[in-house]
Amino acid sequence: MPYSRTTLSHYLIQEQRRLGTSGAFTALLTDILTACKMISHEVNRGAMAGNLGLAGSENVQGEEQKKLDVVANDIFLHMNSLGGHYAAMASEELEEIHTVRGNVDGRYLLLFDPLDGSSNIDVNISVGSIFSILRLPEGVDPSSTDAFLQPGVRQVAAGYAVYGSSTMLVLTTGNGVNGFTLDQHVGMFVLTHPNMRIPEETREFSINSSRQRFWEEPVRRYVDECMAGKDGPRGRDYNMRWVGSMVADVHRILCRGGVFLYPIDAENRAKGGKLRLMYEANPMAFLVEQAGGLATTGSRRILEVPPTALHQRVPVILGSKKEVERVVAYHQDCKGDQTAAQ
Ligand code: AHG
Ligand code: MN
Ligand code: MN
Repeated sequence: MPYSRTTLSHYLIQEQRRLGTSGAFTALLTDILTACKMISHEVNRGAMAGNLGLAGSENVQGEEQKKLDVVANDIFLHMNSLGGHYAAMASEELEEIHTVRGNVDGRYLLLFDPLDGSSNIDVNISVGSIFSILRLPEGVDPSSTDAFLQPGVRQVAAGYAVYGSSTMLVLTTGNGVNGFTLDQHVGMFVLTHPNMRIPEETREFSINSSRQRFWEEPVRRYVDECMAGKDGPRGRDYNMRWVGSMVADVHRILCRGGVFLYPIDAENRAKGGKLRLMYEANPMAFLVEQAGGLATTGSRRILEVPPTALHQRVPVILGSKKEVERVVAYHQDCKGDQTAAQ
């Protein structure tokens, strides 16, 4: 029934009416949507447009940038500068804050990972973009890091685009999670996944098991028990999936449940983990909680972690409520053991 479709623009207008707000969400999100459509197009053209391979540069984290990391970053910066709503932006690909010249009235801050899962670009596996929107606190200079260092609970909106077998945009403004599929011919996002909910229980987990030798006891115990299957303490068989693009792994969890773990381990401990708090963990945690799941570091709720640096890393365990609660309980057991041994 193509003519009963709700587009993302319709959805935003309906939300605006429901909340009695001034249209801020529509204005804030419109340019992000356009940026995601443009990135989707570039990802799609791939090798034909010369978009694959390395850019020949490194980002602030010392990671090699792919050409599409740079293209996607440029698109995000440009498309979100012109609307006048953002006073400043921060990106995985930029060491410093990008102040938007001329946007003196900008009341919001935008954080993004322009291309997530970039190791998958050259092999035609799903990648994505992640974004998080914060308010600019009263009287704070938007070019200061302090303006951005707000815990995840303060996010106004967050979401991602996944450039997969279809391009989808998944969004929360703090009132549940909705998924929209891009109609490539018309150029519009259409509401296809209303009110996404993560099942509380699951038989699927997601972790880079090549890091097993570095894992700490709670994670080792959880994974061992899943791997033991129906003969082990869980009494049922588990399945494992690891795409290597957080966007794709989280999208699967929002669609059919599961647990995603990128824990702190012996190798990444000095850095604080692998994934970045401000533009990976926080927006995903907001989405997951809004869909009925949980997101934790193992010892605290991700959305309450007080940020200390723009590119701070954090352990991430998120997904189906009951499974995440179990992983947290294993962390608590371990803490108890350590205290008892002292
Ligand atoms: P990015 O491409 O933005 O640097 O992020 C990659 C992240 C995340 O998407 C993914 O879950 C994780 O790195 C994969 O890590 P491994 O290479 O250890 O599997
Ligand atoms: Mn990423
Ligand atoms: Mn990235």
